[in-house]
Formats: sequence, structure tokens, C-alpha cells
Amino acid sequence: GIPLILDVDTGVDDACALLLAALHPDLDLRAVTCVGGNAPLADVVRNTLAVLATTARLDVPVAAGADRPLLEDPVDARHVHGQDGMGDLGWPLAHHQPDERHAVELLRDVLLTAADTGERITLVPLAPLTNIALLLRTYPTVAQGISRIIFMGGAAASGNATASAEFNVFHDPEAAAIVLDAAADLGIPVTMYGLDVFYRPRVRREEAEAMIARDPHGPGGLGGRLIRFQCERFETDAATIGDAGAVCAVIDGSKLATTVLPVRVELAGRYTRGRTIVDHRDWSGDLTHDPHGQSDVVVDVALDVDASAYSRLWI
Ligand code: BDR
Ligand code: CA
Repeated sequence: GIPLILDVDTGVDDACALLLAALHPDLDLRAVTCVGGNAPLADVVRNTLAVLATTARLDVPVAAGADRPLLEDPVDARHVHGQDGMGDLGWPLAHHQPDERHAVELLRDVLLTAADTGERITLVPLAPLTNIALLLRTYPTVAQGISRIIFMGGAAASGNATASAEFNVFHDPEAAAIVLDAAADLGIPVTMYGLDVFYRPRVRREEAEAMIARDPHGPGGLGGRLIRFQCERFETDAATIGDAGAVCAVIDGSKLATTVLPVRVELAGRYTRGRTIVDHRDWSGDLTHDPHGQSDVVVDVALDVDASAYSRLWI
């Protein structure tokens, strides 16, 4: 299978992503790292271990990383994800423990081991980019073990945390800017799975109920309950698989339409801090031209998705 690592802030939809990454036969989940975001770090670690225990993937190391953004105070999203960060389902907790290493050290070890054996791992950040920024600045040689980064974050159009900014980038804009800059410097290809596609792969309430009925205490039951939670909270008859769409993109990139475009992160704006500025202008072939002379940062930006293909894949 395709080797991959998830960095998560579990998180209802991070849990959906973990289920898919842990169980899909085409994937080889090597590690999961946790960061404070949707919920405080300790809750994220607890939720992540519980999801992996449900999939019987006790072999996957889970490490705790940054508990706050590089610069600002953390702001959680419990109003979206529930008090416990994972839908307040009362789902059984795991009995196994996280890895003792800091997330950055676990990432370093797994990526350098891969590099030693000529392997390259897909890195899938689904959360504020704090851990990944610290990793790429502290241990840049890990680039030799990374095939690409496909991150959930940003938006070419509207935001969600604010009118301008998507939550993951809004939560730690400096980290997002560092990751894009470092990836460009280190030659790591980056795909942005942002809000332009994020909400579109959806699962209907009755599909979720069927998953729960088929597998009440297993991964299907958990996945179904995560969809049901969102349907109830937002009073809708379908809910997004969210971050899990980025894992779908690793499995089957043919269902995602991407365009290579310059992307920068706004760090200073009063109303726009944390916005990803996606430059759609026609630069007559020179996509990286920048009148301010900054270094070239081009990203493969997801602008369209075959939503039902990803919903079916996740189910
Ligand atoms: C992102 O923020 C979180 O709410 C979700 O888990 C997702 O990663 C969407 O903006
Ligand atoms: Ca997330």
C-alpha cells in the first residue's frame, strides 16, 4: 500500500479520516501525530487512540505534538466537534498509550527510516500546521523521506473560521506560511485540499444509519455515528466526510481536479489574517512571478471533486 502519515486534531472529521487511513487496503498507515486544534491536545490524543483501537491498529504509533500555535493562543472548535472533540458519542476509550516521543521526533524517525530504505511517505496534515512547520525547520533532511504533502487547509474562495480564513490555517497562520515556504525550498510537492472541495463529499443520514446497523461496535458504527452527530448538530440530512476527503485523494487522485497556482498565507490583515491567497491571474506561463520578489511558492490547489465518488469510497 501507499505509505502515509496523518497529522490530526481529532476532531469528528479527522476521526473519519483516521478510519479510512487505518483500514483501506491500498494504504499503509505508518504513524499519526497530534496537534491542538479542534480540541485541546490531550483530548486529541485520547480521541485518536480510541479511533485506532476501534480499527484494531494498535501497531500504529501515535505521538502528541504542539499544544498551541507558534504565536497565538489556541482557539478550539468544540462548538462544531462536541465537548470531547469527537461528537460526545461516549465511544469506548483505548487501553493503549501514545508513543513517548514528541510528534516532531516520531515524524523525524519514521521519515528518515523511510529515506534510508529509498522509500517516500505521503504526509497528510489535517489540522493546524504547527507540528509540520516545526518538523521542516528543525529537520529539513526529512524531505528525502516525503513523496508529497497533501494538506487539508485554506480556501481559494470563502473561509469558515472567518469570512476570509479556513480554520486550520487561521489557527496557526505562521505555521502554514512556514510549511509552504519550506516545502518550496526543499522541493516537496504540495496539494491543498481546501474548503473549495472540503464540504462536498457527503454521506446521507440513512447511509450512516445503515453503517451503524451493520457494524454497531466497530469502525462502521463509529463512522456512522460521526455522520449522525453532524446531521443532528447542523439539522441536515447529510454530512461531510471532511478531512477524510484528503485521504480519498491519496487513494484515488483521479477524482480531484487540481491546478498549479501560486499560494501565499496572509499574516497581517485585520480581517484577512490566515487567508490563503490563491493567485488565479494569467501570468502568461510564468506562474511564479511576484512583483514583491518573494520566493516562488506554487501549490497544486484542489478546485473540484467528484464528491459522490469520495463519499462512496469512504463508506
Ligand atoms: C478543518 O478544521 C477542522 O474543523 C476540521 O477538522 C478540518 O480539518 C476545516 O476547516
Ligand atoms: Ca482536522
